[in-house]
Order: sequence, then structure tokens, then C-alpha cells
Amino acid sequence: MYIQTIAWKDNAIRIIDQNKLPQKLKYIYIKDISSLWKAIKIMQIRGAPALAGAAGLGLYLGIKESKAKNFGQFIKELDRLIRYLSMSRPTARNLFWALERIRKKVLKHKKNPVFELKKIIFNETQKIILEDKIACRRIGEFGARLIKDNDTILTICNTGIFATIDYGTALGIIYRAKEKGKYIKVYVCETRPMLQGARLTTWELKHKGLDVTLICDSMAAYLMQKKKINKVIVGADRVAINGDTANKIGTYNLAVLSFYHRIPFYVACPLSTFDLSCKDGGDIPIEQRSVKEVRELFFKKPIAKKNIKIFNPAFDITPHNLITAIITDKGIIKKPYKKNILRIIKNKNAIK
Ligand code: MRU
Repeated sequence: MYIQTIAWKDNAIRIIDQNKLPQKLKYIYIKDISSLWKAIKIMQIRGAPALAGAAGLGLYLGIKESKAKNFGQFIKELDRLIRYLSMSRPTARNLFWALERIRKKVLKHKKNPVFELKKIIFNETQKIILEDKIACRRIGEFGARLIKDNDTILTICNTGIFATIDYGTALGIIYRAKEKGKYIKVYVCETRPMLQGARLTTWELKHKGLDVTLICDSMAAYLMQKKKINKVIVGADRVAINGDTANKIGTYNLAVLSFYHRIPFYVACPLSTFDLSCKDGGDIPIEQRSVKEVRELFFKKPIAKKNIKIFNPAFDITPHNLITAIITDKGIIKKPYKKNILRIIKNKNAIK
């Protein structure tokens, strides 16, 4: 079964409602920009690379019926919609990257009539979607070289089919290694509070025929102490110029543990996740989410009284010195990160 997380179908955005998993793999159709905004906010669609495609198609939904008569009116309307979509979730760079890329493309064609500008937005988004499919497979190819037969890999959150268009970054590496005939065992952190690991990652790893074991987030140290883990591979929502990386809350814990236990800790992401305007992790905005996710979302009864204060940051920052390498679609980046990140982004040449 071929699964595509986001696609343009029947004049609407078709997404998998990720909040229905693992009980149901259900597609829903989104026909207006505010429904798309909400789908991002409540995480029916999520994962940094998938959010790039969602932002682009959402922008198209918002602008396709525009009555703008000239470029001035059109760009004003487009900027308003870009600002609106930018307020959905703050951390994943890919969402902003897609919106900026589409805006630049429109500016390049400012002499074209409005109906053509709309087509340009749609086509550019289709390019973003296609490039993600290619980028994930390239990440998989580079990363699979690091994986040995019989490796046991620990991961967190969901970095696979559901977080990208159709393959995955960190999970893409595991898929590629399996395709190459390597036997891999995967431990998946449940990923409190939204349980992307338990609900999504175990689902897709099982679907792809991998040997998968679910653990509570707090069990990672014990597994490492028992020498059960050979590698940790995680995704990224934004990477600063010095290699500091924002990813799902709990990633930093795993990086510290890996450092202590001398286990290689890899980050996998496309170049669209790098943000050269962030000098280090301190510049990356961290999303704070509803206290309800911690208190009650996945429980029959609330697990804490209403008057208990709750803190719910959705991401944390892993300092670059804890990262063994960053696996991208243009190659594997090693230390010194700042120099090598700049080289790979500016030259767009693979470092192998
Ligand atoms: O809050 P989410 O589920 O959107 O967070 C997703 C992650 O943290 C992923 O690890 C990251 O986006 C990389 S996905 C290839």
C-alpha cells in the first residue's frame, strides 16, 4: 500500500488525519485555508518536511479565488495569508522556508497576470512536494551507509512517512538500510505527550516489516546501560548555523544519554530544515502547547487535577557538540558544523 501523507486531490488538500492513528488510517479533504491552519495547529498534519507541503498547498487554497486585479493587490493578499499560516506553529523551519520560497517565486514573475501567479504558486508547491520525496531518499541512501547489519537503533517522535511526503528522514535511513538487506531492530520512544512514537512510528515501522519495540521515554537510559542500543537517529525541526538542533521534546535527553554511553547520535534532515538566521539553538523559537495534552488528551480520566501547573514545550535544543553527524540530502555533515553547514548550503555540493 502506497501512503502519501499530503497530496492535492479533487481540488482539495488530502491529508491523513494523524490524530486518528493508530486506530484508523483515514484521509480527510481540506478545502479552505483556515481548516488547513487548524489541521496544522492540532497536528492532523505534522512533521517538519510535511509542513512545507502543507503550507504551500494551504497558501494556494487561500489565494486561488483571489479577486486581485493587479500585482500590488495580489502580493498584499498573499502576504496576509503568509503571515496567517506562519502563526500556525513556530518551530519547524520547513514551513517558513516553503512560504518564503513561494513568495520569492511570485516576486520573480511580478509581470505575469494574476491567474498565472496562482498557477505559479501551485506548481512551486508541487515542486516542493516532489523534492521532498527525492530528498528523503537521498538522506536514506547517505544514512544507510552508517548502518550495520544487526544494528539496534533508538528513535523518538515520528520522522517517517507521516512526517514527510512519503518516506521519511531518520526512518527513511532505516527503510533504506532494510531495503539493502540489513537486519535492524528499532526501539521507539513513545514521545509524551502527543505519542507520535507510539501512535505513528510503531505503526509505520510495523507496516514496513521492521522489528519494532515500543518503550516509555524514561526507559531509554536503562536500555543504553544494558548495551542494547548501537545508534540513536532522530529528525530535526530546525538546525542553527552552528549545528544546534531543535527536535521533539526528549531528544536532548537522548543526546546526553548517548554521549555518556558513547553511542553515536545522528540527526537526519533535509537542507530546508537549516536556518542560517539562527546563530545557535537559542535563536530557535520553541512552541508551547496546550496543558491539556499533558493532563488528559490520551487518558480516560485526567492524570492531574485542574489546578496543577503544567509546562508543555513541544521541542528542545540539542547542542551541536552532542551530535555525531547530521545526515542531509546533500551528504553527511560532520564537525566543525558551522564551517561544514555553510559549505554544504552555499555550494550545494555533497560532502561524503
Ligand atoms: O510536533 P511534531 O510531531 O510536528 O514534531 C515532529 C518532530 O519533532 C520530528 O522529529 C521532526 O519534525 C522531523 S520529521 C522528519
